[in-house]
Amino acid sequence: MKQATVQCIGVLHGDITRLGDAPKNFDESERVGTLEIYPEYQDGLEGIVAGQTIVVLFWLHKSSRDILKVYPRGDRSRGLHGVFATRSPVRPNPIAISELKVEAIHDNCLEVSGLDILDGTPIVDIKKKISR
Ligand SMILES: C[S@@+](CC[C@H](N)C(=O)[O-])C[C@H]1O[C@@H](n2cnc3c(N)ncnc32)[C@H](O)[C@@H]1O
Repeated sequence: MKQATVQCIGVLHGDITRLGDAPKNFDESERVGTLEIYPEYQDGLEGIVAGQTIVVLFWLHKSSRDILKVYPRGDRSRGLHGVFATRSPVRPNPIAISELKVEAIHDNCLEVSGLDILDGTPIVDIKKKISR
């Protein structure tokens, strides 16, 4: 199988509107926003509570998909790395994984913090964070 179909479950609303304004990753971000989950998927939110950290998968819709080597964080002194050895947004399937804190829940919307993702980015999935 060389192709798979993904149904987006929602969309992010936030105040990051330019790539240059986005934090490099969630662990260095305090930016807040709202995950709007489409009503047909709302039942899947049952059990998520304010205060917990969730793992959110986004589809980076403005990313290049035809580049396989990058300079990590644009730092040429580090040399070229294969994209699968990095957290670069550039990759054949531009899926991002961000660990976000749930600040509040209103019906089908989760207010979250820790965003490194642009306003309007499609949401592919949400998972519980494994705690050890
Ligand atoms: C380095 S990626 C990390 C994403 C995720 N936390 C991960 O580790 O998979 C974060 C960067 O992706 C870029 N980005 C965010 N939203 C995007 C979008 N919708 N399309 C393309 N690039 C995006 C921004 O430049 C941001 O700094």
